[in-house]
Amino acid sequence: MDTKGFIRETIEAIREKVKGKALMALSGGVDSSVCAYLSHKAIGSDLYPVFIDTGLMRLDEPANIKETFKEMNLGAINAKESFLDSLKEVEEPEEKRKVIGNLFIRVFEEVARDVGARYLIQGTIYPDRIESDGGIKSHHNVGGMPLDYDFEEVIEPLRDLYKDEVREVARALSLPDEMSERMPYPGPGMAVRILGEVTEEKLKIVKRANKIVEEEIKAYKPWQAFAALLGKGTGVKGDRRVYGWIISVRAVESRDGMTADFLRLPWDALERMSFRITGEVPGVSRVVYDITPKPPATIEYE
Ligand code: XMP
Repeated sequence: MDTKGFIRETIEAIREKVKGKALMALSGGVDSSVCAYLSHKAIGSDLYPVFIDTGLMRLDEPANIKETFKEMNLGAINAKESFLDSLKEVEEPEEKRKVIGNLFIRVFEEVARDVGARYLIQGTIYPDRIESDGGIKSHHNVGGMPLDYDFEEVIEPLRDLYKDEVREVARALSLPDEMSERMPYPGPGMAVRILGEVTEEKLKIVKRANKIVEEEIKAYKPWQAFAALLGKGTGVKGDRRVYGWIISVRAVESRDGMTADFLRLPWDALERMSFRITGEVPGVSRVVYDITPKPPATIEYE
């Protein structure tokens, strides 16, 4: 890919299309961050980057995002309660994705009305579209989005790029390493890493477990790694039987997320994660390691 050429043409194209103010859905991941930087170069203060705190992000992420984008007059919206409420009793994975996609767009529409923006810019990349079109999963920024949105146009500047190409653009834009080399994180967040209904208790547990996985796995440079909460199983603590949560650790290598293989981690690293998660996260009594490639599994659990 001609990265410099792509940057030049994309900035030009955004400038051409947007006649007025545009909202930008910012999650803090590499795709939406690159998208925000390109859009900001294109339309400057007509860009309204908005970060919705769904309560489904990683620990500390909302604070980090606010800090990183403070130069860009970032709008941050606390929608934790609405998301948790809407997800009550929703167990079916595609239903969950639709509920989240729907709520996202409704919140954006509200902000758009407030600031008078008629355009929505999103960081959708090529694999997101392929998987949604192919009926594999409704990625929340594609198939999970309702079609009756109230914007003049939804603009997706990265829609033809693979993840490694997005990273190249990030490097060419001199974005910090922690942004360009960031692990992918799905739009619906922890909701697709909790099997069944999303509750506050499960969220708290999976977020804490996830932080431990990220800390312990950093040295092995996975393409993506995280914790998921599977369900409950019997365990024993002291001399008491407990019915505790089961955490699955997932760590994969991949080029573009379309296929993936599990990481051959040393036993020591796995043992440390198991020890720390069961010791530091109350309510967890079992840790398993996922050794399934994609296909037949997908990277995320739902
Ligand atoms: P799957 O689970 O389909 O994931 O094997 C492939 C890659 O895509 C990410 N992913 C998403 N990204 N919105 C996103 O922006 C989504 O709804 C979504 N679902 C999955 C996933 O984390 C992996 O990197």
